[in-house]
Amino acid sequence: MHTINKKSIQKTWANAITQPGTEFPPTQLPIIAGKIPEGLRGTLYRNGPARLERGGLRMGHWFDGDGAILAVHFTDAGATGVYRYVQTAGYQAETAAGKLLYGNYGMTAPGIIWNQWLKPIKNAANTSVLALPDKLLALWEGGKPHALDLQTLETWGEDDLGGITKGLSYAAHYKQDAHTKEIFNFGISPGLNATLHVYKSNSTGKIIQKAAYQLKGVPLVHDFVLAGQYLVFFIPPVRLNLLPVLLGTGSYSDALEWEPQLGTKILVIDRETLSLVSRGETEPWFQWHFANGYVDSSGTVIVDIARYADFTTNQYLKEVATGVTHTAAKSTFSRVTLNPQIGKVTAIEQLSDQHCEFPSVPQPNVGQISRYTYMSGFRSGADISQEILTAIARFDHKTNTLTTADFGANRYPSEPIHVQDWVLTVVYDGNSHRSEVWVFESDRLNEEPICKLELPSVIPHSFHGTWQPA
Ligand SMILES: [Fe+2]
Repeated sequence: MHTINKKSIQKTWANAITQPGTEFPPTQLPIIAGKIPEGLRGTLYRNGPARLERGGLRMGHWFDGDGAILAVHFTDAGATGVYRYVQTAGYQAETAAGKLLYGNYGMTAPGIIWNQWLKPIKNAANTSVLALPDKLLALWEGGKPHALDLQTLETWGEDDLGGITKGLSYAAHYKQDAHTKEIFNFGISPGLNATLHVYKSNSTGKIIQKAAYQLKGVPLVHDFVLAGQYLVFFIPPVRLNLLPVLLGTGSYSDALEWEPQLGTKILVIDRETLSLVSRGETEPWFQWHFANGYVDSSGTVIVDIARYADFTTNQYLKEVATGVTHTAAKSTFSRVTLNPQIGKVTAIEQLSDQHCEFPSVPQPNVGQISRYTYMSGFRSGADISQEILTAIARFDHKTNTLTTADFGANRYPSEPIHVQDWVLTVVYDGNSHRSEVWVFESDRLNEEPICKLELPSVIPHSFHGTWQPA
């Protein structure tokens, strides 16, 4: 007999992803509280997996969902929203077939197929966005970006930025220097040993410089950090077991193994030349995301991360796709101190004991010291094994204090995006089953937001976004 226990309770957040997100054309957004600040002019873009099932089959992992982009344009005439799926070749083929056809990060292709590895996987285009002067890029770390119209979100197609050669990929976590406008990013190409490709683009996105570094095995590298004159990679001790992937008996996600004995590998690269400064190794941990990095007055590199003790977070994120989670994966906001010349970590310090994800600093401070770090977390008392992120917060490095915004019960804010004096987040309200855009004053996260906008349809929980000034 099947018994229902505490572990099988479906929480309110699941209602935002049990049905695929519904697109809407450019729509004036009603203001439901406060008013739009006069200085807030530009566009908020967000990307996330909006469709996690097709033809009655659920996808295997939250990372597998088809990407859809939300744009909210703030103008003198108010705010308009538009929401569109990225029209990737895989999305179009599956739409036409009415069923899932491809494997992905957390699922093998449906059906019994012995030569799984001959089948292409679907570019989910679901992880982040890069707003360039004349196009928006939907990013996914396993393939090329897709270019979209900045205003209408019409998909134009895959874009190689003039330098991503066939079969290579472009990660979701680029870093743009706000002063030089240079854009740095990387891509991992698999093989028996993976290659780390490093890219530098000019302000238009065009790739102007490249480098490649051989790695041992196939690690999972999701993000890196720009710190002053350096690009720093902390490569966690997760390695792909190739055999089940090649045989088609297991997905990439299931074949990723936690191997703490390998430690965390460090690569420090010079941002001017893209040449190697040092390689090193330190104790094992896992991070998806870096908050920021900088070089202090003594030449030491300081890097802030959302740090997990191990790779349990991947199991939790897999469970999200089912609508019910039961695995706790706690991350804390931590600071790593590194001697860049020899690749040696000299200190690791926990800055806050609260759960931390999606940490970021204001765009002008990327790669430089920042007094504040913004992040997602949980309300106090939340069961982190069953909930998804329920709070946003700001850490003040001067006072070492964390200020948290309380959204009330059953409300789920997206990653906070800092813009000038404000913080923007897309909130799924599970009480009313609708999504809203909330604008806070960045110094007053513990007070009511100064503006709330109603969105026409529920936006499934999203990963990453950006702001493009008008
Ligand atoms: Fe990410």
